[in-house]
Amino acid sequence: MAQVQFFSGESVPLEMHKVRVVQKLSLLPVWERQKRIAEAGNNTFLLKNRDIFLDMLTDSGVNAMSDRQMAAMMIADDSYAGSETFFRLEQKLHEIFGMDYFLPTHQGRAAENILAETYVRPGTVIPMNFHFTTTKAHITRLGGRVEELIIDEGLITSHSHPFKGNVDLNKLRECIERNGAENIPFIRIEAGTNLIGGQPISLENIEAVSKIAHELGIILLMDASLLQDNLFFMHEREPRCKGMSIRQITRAVADQFDIIYFSARKFGFGRGGGICIRNRKDYEKMRELVTVFEGFLTYGGMSVREMEAITVGLDETMDEQIVAQGPQFIEFMVNEFIKNGVPVVTPAGGLGCHVNAREFLPHLNSHDYPAAALACAAYIAGGIRGMERGTLSEQREPDGTEPAAAVELLRLAVPRRVFTLSQIKYAIDRIVWLHRHRELIGGLRFIEEPRVLRFFFGKLEPTSDWQLRLAEQYDKDFPNSL
Ligand code: F0G
Repeated sequence: MAQVQFFSGESVPLEMHKVRVVQKLSLLPVWERQKRIAEAGNNTFLLKNRDIFLDMLTDSGVNAMSDRQMAAMMIADDSYAGSETFFRLEQKLHEIFGMDYFLPTHQGRAAENILAETYVRPGTVIPMNFHFTTTKAHITRLGGRVEELIIDEGLITSHSHPFKGNVDLNKLRECIERNGAENIPFIRIEAGTNLIGGQPISLENIEAVSKIAHELGIILLMDASLLQDNLFFMHEREPRCKGMSIRQITRAVADQFDIIYFSARKFGFGRGGGICIRNRKDYEKMRELVTVFEGFLTYGGMSVREMEAITVGLDETMDEQIVAQGPQFIEFMVNEFIKNGVPVVTPAGGLGCHVNAREFLPHLNSHDYPAAALACAAYIAGGIRGMERGTLSEQREPDGTEPAAAVELLRLAVPRRVFTLSQIKYAIDRIVWLHRHRELIGGLRFIEEPRVLRFFFGKLEPTSDWQLRLAEQYDKDFPNSL
């Protein structure tokens, strides 16, 4: 990906690839869209893909593969045990992270399950920069507790700090002192901090956390699912990383950790996951769990074709031009939104563009689920599927109270190498239109509320007939357009 300047003076991200396989999309008329979102219980997870124009739900498992990845899939070595394909993947991970052992899992949360089963006990505390939904679910399921130690700037959506995923070192020292190092089986660092808008952590901060952890003999673990974008930001924003290649930065980061796990649905342009680890004893403990929960040690629930694709995808992740594509598209969106007065998380992060629903819809409160309401509105206004990342994604407390999320975001994910710039411009246009008519958007309430991970399958209804009025306005403003 290159940022080029047009003759007009405009600066535009330019795709450094061409599209050779395509999938046809359809865009339903607005009244159909209004009906489909109601049928889906006002939950974008429950929409059908055939009813969606731009699927910006996630970057997970939907990144475009390259010709080289597809070619590698054809020569996968299909065997239950001892597959050459597995050894190629193992070798590639060893080459980029420098860790001795690798355990394959079917996806990222499966790695989290193995890690939690190995280290988490009732009463243990896991400090981290910020939680991810599935990570927290595994830790709390086993009686552990999460403490979030992100710098205060990380939760201020408009703050310009270049590394909003950084750990507050004073909070970390205080947390260890209060809980006792013996109750902390590991410290978790999430690269490209997902739930605060794909915001990166700096190499300098990682080194400082590593020093504190290792002085006290605490394991330091990285969730590298969103490392790709984080590497790009280190390269762009951290002066000492400017002269380094992505491969060199990766190694400098990895050298600080004892364990690195990842979802290959994001990291490696594939589908799958795994755990890289230095310590042989812990590797042996986890090995047993992998064979019980995932599959034999040389596939762990992944198909050999996927493993080949990840091996090539990891090499592509080390390519400066390729890793720039996602963040540059996202930055383009963020800049256009700022120009048009739409509140977004800044600076532009990885994974997607995050619209600040709390500011977008100041007339709603957190328990009206503003980010979820905005997600429904984006579907009605453009067939665009985003993801709620706010109060609805939180779990209720054991006493039934509902905590308001620290940030209330609509995530418009930008799967890597998938969309063209005109599609991105369309998404921007429809969100800007919604912002002009924001007073039409009302709240949602549950009609079916699952106990765990309720955002996945919960069903809601609008608190008034606002969706009808929004569709009417759309019909009026775009009489000749879908
Ligand atoms: N960790 C992080 C930081 C993630 O973003 C995800 C998934 C996981 C772990 C779990 O990995 O899905 O392979 O089991 N994030 C997806 C998303 C679901 O849409 O942001 P998984």
